[in-house]
Parts: sequence; structure tokens; C-alpha cells
Amino acid sequence: MKETVLTRDYGTPARSSAIQVSLEVDGIKVTVPAGTSVMRAAAESGINIPKLCATDSIEAFGSCRLCLVEIEGRRGYPASCTTIVEDGMKVRTQSGKLQSLRKGVMELYISDHPLDCLTCPANGDCELQDMAGVVGLRDVRYGMDGANHLADKKDESNPYFTYDPAKCIVCNRCVRVCEETQGTFALTVSGRGFASRITAGQNDAFMESECVSCGACVQACPTATLQEKSVIWLGQGEHSVVTTCAYCGVGCALKAEMKGDQVVRMVPYKDGKANEGHACVKGRFAWGYATHCDRITTPMIRNAITEAWREVSWDDALAFAASEFKRIQAKYGCDSIGGIVSSRCTNEEGYLVQKLVRAAFGNNNVDTCARVCHSPTGYGLKHTLGESAGTQTFKSVERADVIMVIGANPTDGHPVFASRLKKRLRQGAKLIVIDPRRIDLVKSPHVRAACHLQLRPGTNVAVLNALAHVIVVEGLLDEAFIAARCEDMAFNTWRQFVSQPENAPEATEAISGVPARLLREAARTYAAGGNAAIYYGLGVTEHAQGTTAVMAIANLAMATGNVGREGVGVNPLRGQNNVQGSCDIGAFPHELAGYRHVGDAATRALFEEAWGVELQSEPGLRIPNMFDAALDGSFRGLYCQGEDIVQSDPNTQHVAAALSAMECVVVQDIFFNETAKYAHVLLPGSSFLEKDGTFTNAERRISRVRKVMPPLAGYADWEVTMQLARRLGCDMQYSHPSEIMEEIARLTPSFRGVSYEKLDRLGSIQWPCNEEAAEGTSIMHIDQFVRGKGRFAVTRFIPTTEKVTRKYPLILTTGRILSQYNVGAQTRRTENVRWHLEDRLEIHPHDAEDRGIRDGDWVGIESRAGSTVLRASLSDRLQPGVVYTTFHFPGSGANVITTDNSDWATNCPEYKVTAVQVLPVAHASDWQQEYARFSDTQTRLMEARSPRVEKVR
Ligand code: SF4
Ligand code: SF4
Ligand code: SF4
Ligand code: FES
Repeated sequence: MKETVLTRDYGTPARSSAIQVSLEVDGIKVTVPAGTSVMRAAAESGINIPKLCATDSIEAFGSCRLCLVEIEGRRGYPASCTTIVEDGMKVRTQSGKLQSLRKGVMELYISDHPLDCLTCPANGDCELQDMAGVVGLRDVRYGMDGANHLADKKDESNPYFTYDPAKCIVCNRCVRVCEETQGTFALTVSGRGFASRITAGQNDAFMESECVSCGACVQACPTATLQEKSVIWLGQGEHSVVTTCAYCGVGCALKAEMKGDQVVRMVPYKDGKANEGHACVKGRFAWGYATHCDRITTPMIRNAITEAWREVSWDDALAFAASEFKRIQAKYGCDSIGGIVSSRCTNEEGYLVQKLVRAAFGNNNVDTCARVCHSPTGYGLKHTLGESAGTQTFKSVERADVIMVIGANPTDGHPVFASRLKKRLRQGAKLIVIDPRRIDLVKSPHVRAACHLQLRPGTNVAVLNALAHVIVVEGLLDEAFIAARCEDMAFNTWRQFVSQPENAPEATEAISGVPARLLREAARTYAAGGNAAIYYGLGVTEHAQGTTAVMAIANLAMATGNVGREGVGVNPLRGQNNVQGSCDIGAFPHELAGYRHVGDAATRALFEEAWGVELQSEPGLRIPNMFDAALDGSFRGLYCQGEDIVQSDPNTQHVAAALSAMECVVVQDIFFNETAKYAHVLLPGSSFLEKDGTFTNAERRISRVRKVMPPLAGYADWEVTMQLARRLGCDMQYSHPSEIMEEIARLTPSFRGVSYEKLDRLGSIQWPCNEEAAEGTSIMHIDQFVRGKGRFAVTRFIPTTEKVTRKYPLILTTGRILSQYNVGAQTRRTENVRWHLEDRLEIHPHDAEDRGIRDGDWVGIESRAGSTVLRASLSDRLQPGVVYTTFHFPGSGANVITTDNSDWATNCPEYKVTAVQVLPVAHASDWQQEYARFSDTQTRLMEARSPRVEKVR
């Protein structure tokens, strides 16, 4: 029989204290940290005190009076959830009097509760039902006919959960969890006494309120009042498996509750260190895409993209792909093909794809989507600190006094981290936001940014240099830290550089648009406000100077001594679930696993011996180079696993032309995505529910992905890559992904101590994990930097060549929205579309008025690269002169207008700065019309596919 992963509720949160307190509960001695509740102390000694309003994710409230206890020497019956332990305390949790008091409480609750337990979706998973049993309730003296709420109307507006007020016991857990854990403050208790009811917003339906559908209240509700619709439809799970969310780089641990191989619900896992029992609308609810009818479940091939597809066996599809790759290499040379590693796939799968390219293709033409997001992080942090990764745990934010968020929008992009961050801000930490938009964090319930530096897109480096200037000139440097931990010469050069008048806030004001006064205030707050932590995102990296900005951030942290302990650090917020992992395992053309250059003979020798092949010593092609080479005729074949480059990469027309020029494009994906429309071989992919493996989140945390259902098409992605490699003469032999991890660990110093056994034992591991750090490393650079001494970098501001002109007077910048994810392939196939059904162009009312644009109008957005048409949303979150859009829908063509400008060091595209003109229009752009035609044709060719009968020649 399959197991259920049990999680225990201790009633109130754990406390940490140097002072330990000993007491007796029902004669059992227990020692707990000072500040612990009697309820928790009892639970830790194995005694469960009845409770309803308490749960250990939120502070005690003391409203239900079910948890009463007797304490020797005290009068009355205190609530154990709100009573704090004292040394020598003697507590009794059971007595005749307590029994009768608890029964009385339960009678009152049950007299106003429907008696439909047998047909209730929570039957067997209801704390009210459990407590009725625990206190021995047998009848209700007050009967069921008095005033009650049994006829209250259900709210079914949310696609994922219902609110049935008839079942509500007004325990307030939902309200508190929405405030304390999620930080949205969407719920209140309206009315008093008997009339008390839980209401969303201003007595709105949930969907009309501020609720962001994180589901925390559903999880906290002890009854079926707030209940997942999936449980109402399917019933409760009979076993559960802990796995990791496949959406963003937070990497939340989720408990998949299952009925056979059907997911019933996802419950955030309390012991998951990245999320500690919380999740967002994507991870908790948006998993239905995995079994969507659009899933590709049969391999397909065709000779040209003008032909209809033919369904074939796996053998035939793989044989076709292998023979095409061999043919192309024979004709055009070894370097004429390459592969793309997916940051949505597991570490083990990414590792196999890069191994396939290096060992079977015989070149280094492998790259990953980090190229278009965080490659500057890798380069910039490696250069300055010595390691291409963030320095902290997410939990570390709880110790930060000042939090600087640059070019990131955590409430939409990294929601569970945002909740932790907001909690710290509510406790009094100061917030500095550097962003062209007034993101939610700037002003949200009980959160106000101390400074919002609303800079012009493309001027991050000028702003960061101005902050550094103030720190140096006003004597705010941590001289002792710098002397002990950083390279002298590089520091002095940097100090001289940032001290120059051109970097003074008064000089950069004209460049960035940020008032000098605000820049000075922010610099002083960051440098002198205690522990200061920086969190940044793609608003830093996706620029022509992305790498420079990352180095400028590292400079700030080193200059103020904010590295190497809790509450500080430099923290890239990674976009996709496994983008950290795909970089770690060697998916870049210049690096083998563990960020070791392919030019290093010793590293190459290690892999050559393990793989039994000779490796090229020169870096291979980056993704944009592959496209250029395709158009010049030297690159002819691509294996693309789990990425939709046509939608996600800049300058869509260029990408499409490059793919059209190739002779064999192999796409491995769960859906017929935009890139697949240019493919010759379609290999069905497997979702995160269908395979074992690991993901590595933005904290460097390696977590297990566990298979809960068989792959819909028969094979997990790693098995498919392995079979393709064998057909190309590379003898890959693995019977389980744990063996792939063993190989990664054997060949990669920072992974040396990682194994599935250890992951199962510890739950997750932050690399480096090796001889020096057997259980991993939560905080990096503690006593010294990974590279020895920290290296300051001179970060001169060089304006982007993408300039506004009379023809293109506005700057377009892009970002994400909470309910959608990346190219939207997954979330567009869930009920999340109810929140975001189309990408829109946000435009400031002044710019809109100048152009005669009203909210909802269709507008044409034209750049030097192309044009597209979206509907306008008027918003003063932007400054005049800046427009903004998301990029979750293929027909929006956000990347038709982004240019092919890119970061000087890594080629990361400059998505965040495109000069555009916006004008009202009446019809779709030329590109959109062409896209619609091409897409319709491809859909027809897919629908006209011939079933699996014919043999491949
Ligand atoms: S909805 Fe649930 S959690 Fe909220 S007060 Fe009612 S019973 Fe308690
Ligand atoms: S789903 Fe989340 S945001 Fe919405 S009311 Fe519940 S806790 Fe608050
Ligand atoms: S915050 Fe990210 S990892 Fe966590 S549930 Fe949401 S999408 Fe998944
Ligand atoms: S659990 Fe203590 S008062 Fe409700």
C-alpha cells in the first residue's frame, strides 16, 4: 500500500530562544524554548490538547476555548494556546471539569453546523468532526432549530475553492493566515457575536476581492467552509507524495495528495525549507495542465514543415532524429547541430542533454534559457564573489533590517518569497525599491517602501554607481570588512572610480530620472541601516549592461560588509523552476558542470575519462549564435528539450527564420508549442508529475521531484535523451535518475556530497555539498569569498544604443503577472486564465491622452524590430514615457518588438528596453496576421496527422 506523508500540527508556532524552560504536562517532563505555548509543549511531549482556532502556522488567537487546561496553583481554566510555559509549571490536560467545559463548547458549535458529515467533502479530514469525537460529544442540548447560519449562500466564484459560510465556525484562522502568512489582508470578520461572518474584501465575492488565490486560508480552515473544488469533485486522496513545484525559482515543496495516479490536491509541505507550508495560486492550484487534453502523447515526424505530421513509434521517431543528425553532420560538419537544455526539466535531464551534445554530437553547442534571463548573474557574481549563485536562504530575509529589491516584482514573480519578505517588512525592516514601475511592494497593506527609485529603464548601472558614490564619499564603507575580505588593488581602483563627480547622484539624476535626494537617502539607508540584503531579478540582468549591473550590486554588498551572514547578501530571484540547476549542471556552451570552463584541460580530462570520448576545448554556440549560424547555413539541426524559443527569445522573426532554415528540428515538449510548429520531429515530453529527479531553486537548494503518475507517453524525458544518445553511439546506461545524480556528484566538486539517499533524509540540500559541507551550505562566503578575496569591479555606465527618438518616443519594458508563468504554455491551460486572459499594454494616462487612447482600446506598438497590437490598460504605476507588457500569450508578439541588443558579456537579450511608438489601430499587425495564418496552417497539419501505421524508410 502506498504511503501518506503525515504532517503534525503543534497548535502554535515554534519559538527559538537560548533560554530553555522545563515543565510537566500530565506528569510528563518536557523542556522547550522560552516563549513556547503550553499547547505546543504538550504536543512536543506527545499530548494533543483539543483545539479549533489554533494551528501552528499562525500566532494563537484564543477564541474557541476548546483548549482549556488546568495549571497547578492557578485559578480557572486558561487556554493552552495563549498561555506561555513557565519553569516548573504543572499542567493537566484531562479532567472531568475540562471534559465538560469542552463538550459545552462543542455543543454550541455543532448546534449551528449542518449535520451532513457523510456527504461533506471534508468527511474524515475535518477538525470539527475530530474534536466532536475527541470530547465525546453525543448530543446537542440546544437542538438544531435555533437561530443559525445554515441557509447562508455559498460563494463559488473562485475557480479553485468554495466558501460555504453555513459551515463556518468563525475561528478566524483564515483571516489570520491571509494576514500573517500571505500578507494580503483580503479577509475580515464582519458583524459581531452571532452575526459574525468571514467576508472577502468589502463583502465581495472572492473573485472580486483582493484575494490572490494563494489557498492558505483553504489549508488553514478546520472545516469544509473553505474547500478545494478538486476535493469536492474527486474526494480525498488515499496516499501522498512530496515533490517540488515546477513553476518558479522559489521551489516550493508540495505534497501531492493522490487517488491512484490522479492528483486530488496539492498541499504546500510544512517541512519544505523554501516555503515552510505556503504556496501560490500556480503551485497549489494550477497543476491541471499536466493531464490537459492538449498533451502530446505520441511521437511524430515529418520531412518538411509544410507536411502533415505522421504518428510513429518511439523507435521510429528516435531512429529518424538520429539519422537526420548524422546526415547533417556528415554533410555540414560536426558543429552543424546543437541542443537546448530546459530549465523546466530536472537537473538529471539537463545533464543528459548537455552530455548528449558534448559526447554524442561531439561539440559544445549546448545552451539553456538562462541565456535569456540570468546568464549575467552567473558571470557577474563569479567575477566578483567567485560563485555563480545567490548567497542566502530565503529564510535569511527574516534577519534583514534593510531590503533592497531591484528590477524584480516578487509579489507576481516569486510570490511565496514575497510573502516572507512582506512579513519582515511588517516587523519593521526598511524597503528600497529600484524599479521603473510602482510595483505592489511599493505600497501594499501594511507595507510602504522607504524609498522608491523610479528610474528610467536602462539606467540601473548609473543608479547603482550613484548609491556607491554616496557610500564612499560619505564614509559609509565597512573599511574593516573590505581590508580583511577584499582585494586591495581592485577596491582602490573602484573607490576612485565611483568617487568621480560623474557618479554623484546630482550628476546621474539627469540620466536616470531619480532625484539626487532620494538616491542619497537610499544609499544611507542601505549602508547604515543594519543587515542589508539585495534581491534582484530580470530587471537587472536583461539589459545591454546586465552583467555590469550584477557586478555593481556585488560591489555595494562588499563595500558595506553585507555578505557572509544571515540577513544580508546578494540574491538573484531566478525565474524558472530549475534555471539555477540547468546552469549548475553544465548547460552553457563554455562550461562543464560546476561552472568549469571547457578550456580547462584537467576538467575536460575528468569528463573524457568518465564518458569515454574526446571533448572539444573551445566553447560552442550560444543560442543567438545558433540562430545566426542557421541563417548563414552552417547550423542545420537542433534538439530542443522543453523550451519554447520561438515565444521566449527576442526578435521572433529572426528566431522563426533561423528555425525555418534548419533541416532537422527535434522538439521534445508536453505541448505542441510555438517552436514545434517549425519542427520535424516531435517527441512527447513528461510533466514534473511523471518523473523522478531534482530541481535547484534560487537558494541553490536541490529538492526532489517525485513521480506520482506514469509518463503519459511512456517515457520520462531523461529516458528519451538516453535512447537518442545510444542511437548516436553514446553509451548512456542509467536505470534511474539517482544514477545520473551519482555521476554529477562524482564529477562536480560542489555536488560531491549530494545523493538521493541524503536528499530523502534531509529533505533538501543547498550546494556546495561536499567533504567540507556534508549537509550543504546555507549561507555562502562566510569567512572568505569562494574566490578567496572579493573583487570589486569598475562598472562604468554606458547608455544602451536603444534610444528614444521622435519616431520611437516611448520605452517598452516587460514583466510577468502572478497567475501566468513564462510563455504561458502551462498556466494558459488552467483556470488561471480567469485572472489574465490576454497580455495588455500598460500606458500612463498622460501618454494615452496625447495619443487619444482610452482604456481597452487596441493599440499598435512599433519598434525598430517589428510591430504588434495589444489592448491598452491605462495605469499610473508607470512614469510617463514608459510602457509595459507581459509576454504570456504567443499571439501578443511581445518578442516581435524586442530587439536583438544584448548584454556585452553573456548575450542576454535587452528585453527591458525597447524604444517604441504606440498609436491607436483598428486591426492586428502584419506579424500577427502572418502568425495567425502560419499557426492555423500548422494546427491543420497537426490535426491532419496520419495515425501510426507506416514504417520509416
Ligand atoms: S472560513 Fe474556516 S478558517 Fe475561516 S473562520 Fe470559518 S471555519 Fe474558520
Ligand atoms: S486565498 Fe490567500 S489571498 Fe485569498 S483570502 Fe485566502 S489566504 Fe487570502
Ligand atoms: S511561489 Fe513559485 S515555487 Fe512556490 S508555489 Fe508559487 S510558483 Fe510554485
Ligand atoms: S485552540 Fe486555544 S482557544 Fe482555540
